[in-house]
Order: sequence, then C-alpha cells, then structure tokens
Amino acid sequence: MTDVLNPVGENSADVPEYPMARVAACPFDPPPELRTKQVEGPLAKVRLWDGSTPWLVTRYADQRALLADPRVSADITRPGYPSSAPIGSGGSHISFILMDDPEHARLRRMVTAPFTIKRVEAMRPTVQKIVDELIDDVLAGPKPVDLVEAFALPVPSLVICQMLGVPYSDHDFFQENSKTIIKRDASPDDRTAALGRLAGYLDDLVGAKLENPGDDLLSRLAERVAAGELSRQAAAQMGVLLLIAGHETTANMIALGTLALLENPDQLAVLRESDDPKLISGAVEELLRYLHITHNGRRRVALEDIEIAGHVIRAGDGLIMPNDIGNRDPEAFPEPDRLDLTRDARHHVAFGFGVHQCLGQPLARMELQVVYGTLYRRIPTLRLAEDLSQIPFKHDGSVYGVYRLPVTW
Ligand code: HEM
Repeated sequence: MTDVLNPVGENSADVPEYPMARVAACPFDPPPELRTKQVEGPLAKVRLWDGSTPWLVTRYADQRALLADPRVSADITRPGYPSSAPIGSGGSHISFILMDDPEHARLRRMVTAPFTIKRVEAMRPTVQKIVDELIDDVLAGPKPVDLVEAFALPVPSLVICQMLGVPYSDHDFFQENSKTIIKRDASPDDRTAALGRLAGYLDDLVGAKLENPGDDLLSRLAERVAAGELSRQAAAQMGVLLLIAGHETTANMIALGTLALLENPDQLAVLRESDDPKLISGAVEELLRYLHITHNGRRRVALEDIEIAGHVIRAGDGLIMPNDIGNRDPEAFPEPDRLDLTRDARHHVAFGFGVHQCLGQPLARMELQVVYGTLYRRIPTLRLAEDLSQIPFKHDGSVYGVYRLPVTW
C-alpha cells in the first residue's frame, strides 16, 4: 500500500481550481481538464474558493465505493468538508442531505413514504394531466416560447407543491429564492437571506398545517412536530430541502434533456417514434447519465484513513466525487460521450450512491418518463428558435441546465 499520493504540492500553483471551466465544444460534456485528470489517475488535488485542497475522485468505481463507505461524512460543519461556497452566518444547512446517520436516517425516514415507487406510480395519471395541459397551453400560445418558463419549471413545481401542500400560486417566490441558493457566485449574505426567507415561509406553512392539516407531506411533518418528535425549525428545513430538490433538478433535466435531444435528431427520432414504456424509461436513464445536472460533485470528508485505488486518504481530507466524469468513465460506460438512448445506463450515479442516494428518484424518473414520452410526440416539429450559441447555460450554478430555451414548431 502506498502512502498518500500528492503528485503536486498543496501549495503549488499547479493545483487546478475546482469547479473547472466547462469550455468543451459540446455543452453537454464535462470540462476537458476534468477528463484529463481522470485519464491521469484515480485521485487528484484540486483547489477550492477558500484555498483548501481536497481530493478529486475521478473514477466511477472509486466514487461509488467512497459514497457507500461509512467512514466518509456528509456533515458540512466538520473541519475539512469541501464546501462549494462560504457558509454564511446562520449556516447553509439544508436539512438531512448535509447530515450523517443516525440523525440523517431518522429524518429521512419521516418523509420516505410518498416517494416509494408504488405511491409515485399512483401519481402518474395526475402528472400526465399536468403535462398534457401545459402542452395544450404552449400550443395555444404565441411562438417562439421559452420552454423553461412555460413547461420545464411548472411541471415539477406543480407536482412537488401538490405533494408537500405548498400553494403553487407562490411559485415566483420560491423559485426566485431557490435560484439564489443554488447560484454558485451568490454572496453568503444573499444565500443566507434566501434560505431564511424560504425557511420562514415553510415555517408559516407548517404552523398553518398544525391548525388545519391536509392530505400532504407538510401536514405529516406537522403531526411529528405536535408529537414532539421534530422541532418546528427542523420540519421547515425539511420542507425547504424537498421544495428545492423537488423542482430545480427535474426542471433542468427537462430543459437540458430537450436541448440534447434536439441536438441529436437521430436519438430524438428513436424517442418520438416509440410509445414503448421500456424504451422511454431507458432513454430517461441514458439522459440522466449523459447530462449530469448536479455537476459539481458529491462532497464528503474522510472520518478515518481510507485506502482507495492504492492510496491512503487521510482522516480530515475533503473528497469531491463529480458525477459528470463518473458517468463518462469508459470503464463503466463504453463510448461514454455518445448519447445512446438504447444503452443500459441504469447503473449511473446521477442520483448519487450510498445512504444519501436521491430520495426523490422514483418521482424524478416518473416525471421525466411522462415528459419525454409525451412532449416530442405531441409537438413532433419542435425545434430551437435561436442558434445553440445564443442559449445561456448555467455555468454559474450548482445545478446545471439552461436559463431559457426558446423553441418553436
Ligand atoms: C432529475 C432529478 C434529480 C436529480 C438528478 C437528483 C440528484 C440527487 C443527488 C445526486 C443526490 C445525492 C446528494 C449527495 O449524495 O450528496 C440527491 C439527493 C436528494 N434528492 Fe434528488 N435529484 C433529483 C430529483 C429529486 C426530486 C424530485 C426530489 C423530491 C423531493 C429529490 C429529493 C432529494 C433529497 C431529499 C435528497 C437527499 C437525500 C439524503 O440525503 O438522504 N430529488 N438528489
């Protein structure tokens, strides 16, 4: 066993900054510098905004091994945690996603029931109705239209609002604040203020559900508060996590996935000409693999010395596991840069891996299956209304996607 490999000194100017600039010719590909690191070796040091130098774990198998390892922590308050942005006063805790077991598991268990495959499948007709009605509106409205505004954002927002018991009429408020929270270059004060506004809003809603419970997840959390199992603040924080995670990621997958399909017309044709649910669900998995919406890496800190890929990561070292290169590792996915809707991509790490693996993945999958299985069949001539070079990509966000997607038909 070799000791920690540190090919470049931590203070060396050679340690590249992370996240790396996405300057690839193809806007769906990870930054070329990341790919180079993957070819060079399983581990590399990178430099963060605060000067710290965590390890970048470049390969799929090692990323999965570490994400499933109980010797790594997701607790953002631990020294060495490679935070993606300053933790503003008041903290940027977004509930159990940044906690370790047993508290992580205790809180997660309180909200798992509505996200089981069975419960999610029961919602499929509702989601189909939402998608159909939004497409009706798009078709009845003027051309071109911004697909983000008219379709990609409303679909998951309407669904998660219904599940949580949040009034959809407040969508401008919560979408605006969650935009600030996930913007990489938002100041700590702005991010903290946005989190505070959302937490206050969810706290009011939990209070209202205590008085007037409904058939929704916030009401179930309010019951836990009343039973003394959960503080009202923790309930509100869980609401913030579910509200943000429930719409941002899926909305970006809808818009970026549509753009990727429009840029790969042979693949779009495969999808448009089929109503085979198996092909559609396979296409969703491949798009999740290919597009890596949560592109800035799973972040963890080592609690003990860990041997991986012939090296030792020391206790207290930060770890970054970017799924964009994990999902493009040729060892796991042959010809990884080819979008191939017929490949078996189910083992991708787009939803993470281990105990923090995405809670909402059955819901996200079902929403995307309905969207990808409906949109291009109902609008078969859908096309970009501007040149690809005019499309603004979210290079500055912790969630990747496009700010707007002008389309016509
Ligand atoms: C395409 C859509 C989505 C993608 C790509 C995605 C991706 C991810 C990833 C990568 C993680 C792991 C984070 C980590 O390990 O640090 C995660 C966690 C999580 N996601 Fe998603 N997600 C999506 C949709 C959703 C939806 C619809 C919800 C519904 C509320 C949701 C709720 C959550 C929650 C609560 C966690 C934290 C799980 C835990 O810490 O135990 N996600 N997601």
